[in-house]
Amino acid sequence: MPLLWCSSVHHSGFSSRRPGFKSRQEHQFSCKSHLTGNTRELKSHHHLAVMGVDVTLDVEAIRADFPILSRKLPNGKQLVYFDNAATSQKPKCVIDAMSQYYSEYNSNAHRANHTLADEATTALESARSSISSYFGTSPDQMVYTSGATEAINLVSYAWARENLSKDDVIVLTEMEHHADIVPWQQLSKEKGVEVRYVPIDTDSFTLDMAAFEIAVDGASLVCVVHTSNVLGIRNPIEKIIELSHSNGARVLLDCAQGAPHEKIRFDDSGVDFVAISAHKMGGPTGIGCLLVKKDVMSQMGPFMTGGSMIKTVSTLGSTFQEGHALFETGTPRIAEAIGWGAAVEWLEKFDMKDVHSHINKIASWTAERISNIDGITVYGDPSRSDSSGAVSFLHDSIQSQDLALLLDEGGFAVRTGHHCAQPLMDALGVPSTNRASFWLYNTMEEAEAFVNHLDYVVGRFSDK
Ligand code: ALA
Repeated sequence: MPLLWCSSVHHSGFSSRRPGFKSRQEHQFSCKSHLTGNTRELKSHHHLAVMGVDVTLDVEAIRADFPILSRKLPNGKQLVYFDNAATSQKPKCVIDAMSQYYSEYNSNAHRANHTLADEATTALESARSSISSYFGTSPDQMVYTSGATEAINLVSYAWARENLSKDDVIVLTEMEHHADIVPWQQLSKEKGVEVRYVPIDTDSFTLDMAAFEIAVDGASLVCVVHTSNVLGIRNPIEKIIELSHSNGARVLLDCAQGAPHEKIRFDDSGVDFVAISAHKMGGPTGIGCLLVKKDVMSQMGPFMTGGSMIKTVSTLGSTFQEGHALFETGTPRIAEAIGWGAAVEWLEKFDMKDVHSHINKIASWTAERISNIDGITVYGDPSRSDSSGAVSFLHDSIQSQDLALLLDEGGFAVRTGHHCAQPLMDALGVPSTNRASFWLYNTMEEAEAFVNHLDYVVGRFSDK
């Protein structure tokens, strides 16, 4: 079993281990091909069924809702947007809802008694109802935040600082986004809380659950990413919640990548905290939420303080609101909430299982094809039916930044870098990857064009 954890944030603990770490070539994606021909032989065609893809979504109609998808880049190339794990594109109804607010009823919420203020307040709260209902919970268990990062910081400041001390243990994983690492490292510095990191198995790219079972012993809080933004791996969150609760630990799920692919059912899951960003699921940037169980919310103290979160203020001191109002100070993100509300209403039209299946099939097909290109290694296992649409890869001689530019020249937008997951990069033994990530509007034709272009640039620029 690999080393399990470091006892405090002062040890990075990642670099010296993994005696069994394999080379990139050994890690190559090994899904058995259900298709024939290598990538150089691919021909453009439109028969999705032939390519093993069920046509469960009317992708053409979906694409028509996204004005940006018809955009041509300055070099005349058609945009192919494969950076959805960074942020998704927005359907027209979201753009229209935000524009309508600004052009027809822009006003502050929860403050005044005029018509516009009333309309803005109603829209803000009605968005909270739609969004919380989409996530299978009630409005009183949802706190608006600026995104998943602020939601996690909210748990760290308002719950953990109130309830944890030096004898407590927080369990993280090696595949967490920095947003779910740094707040806990800061807490550890301040309060002496122990932070344990559960490793991943670098053969399967999955969480080492045997190590998790050891790490959770004596833990007070477990913070786990639902779906890795780098590997596309979905963690066994049901098992993690069960094991954590039976050990007396609260659980925080980072669902920034999970929510665009899967219907999160907060109440049914039994989880204590869920952090979500709107902008990866068709909503605007600048908004997200923390879902919190009511009894846990009552254990939280104030975080950001100021207007709205108070009941009374005098020169002698202040008294505070209860419930989600305690954590929502200052002018709310009204347009953003309205936009996110429109996004979830738009998403309600789809069965998220169909959405997931569509994305998963594009991702697994793409991963399989690019792993056949000379020098390309895929990190993650998109052949798993529960994997999301993130396909991380690296060429063994073309730098990831250069490869991204070459892909951009063909019109393909992918992300490059450490993806705010440096501990995971350390575990994989690479500094960065290129990442293509898909959402419901992407097509197999786009994936096929991408594979062909990648094959072309690798053939042209590789030093082999
Ligand atoms: N966390 C986002 C990503 O993975 C920004 O790209």
